[in-house]
Amino acid sequence: MLTDQDLPWDATPFLPPDQERTLDVLREAARSCRACDLFFSGTQTVFGEGPERADVMMIGEQPGDMEDRAGQPFVGPAGRVLDEALDEVGIDRSRVYVTNVVKHFKWVARGKRRIHSKPNAREIRACRPWLDAELEDVQPRVVVLLGATAAQALLGGKFRVTQERGKPLEDTSLAPYVVATVHPASILRAPDPETRESEGRAFVEDLRTVKRLLE
Ligand code: URA
Repeated sequence: MLTDQDLPWDATPFLPPDQERTLDVLREAARSCRACDLFFSGTQTVFGEGPERADVMMIGEQPGDMEDRAGQPFVGPAGRVLDEALDEVGIDRSRVYVTNVVKHFKWVARGKRRIHSKPNAREIRACRPWLDAELEDVQPRVVVLLGATAAQALLGGKFRVTQERGKPLEDTSLAPYVVATVHPASILRAPDPETRESEGRAFVEDLRTVKRLLE
């Protein structure tokens, strides 16, 4: 088992040279990333997906159980919530690049089930060069941060999604506009159908703001 001392500070040594960084080359290189020890627990690296020049980049926390098996981001229940909301506001999925701040599934066993476990600061930092390279390549007009982990990883630990959700932020280095909102999985975890319904509507409203920024 590798210890923290054996691991590089972050994923930079695993990235291809600057001039070779197309999404396909990055995706291939990320398959053998060992910058943190999550490669032990995840089945495979789940790199971002979408067009090379997408207008919108949506950034979640980390792949879930289904994403880990499929090798694709947002193909499980949270992805369905996201797809439905995008459809409702009329954002064409083919204009969207989806990815995560951490590209391996971190989980703990509960019986036969693999339960999501939140990535820590070191794992997020280790994975960051992949996300920076995706941003550099895609150059989205709008970055959408899905949930507190993604928002705080990119905007700082003091950022509060509850207070800032749905507000276009223009003074970041990520993209011309950044919008933070809740993670679609949080809608699925709502305690009752009414809350789920109202949380779903609020999420759609945040994506309507994104749609307006694209017009
Ligand atoms: N949750 C995420 O944050 N990302 C995924 O890809 C799936 C679920």
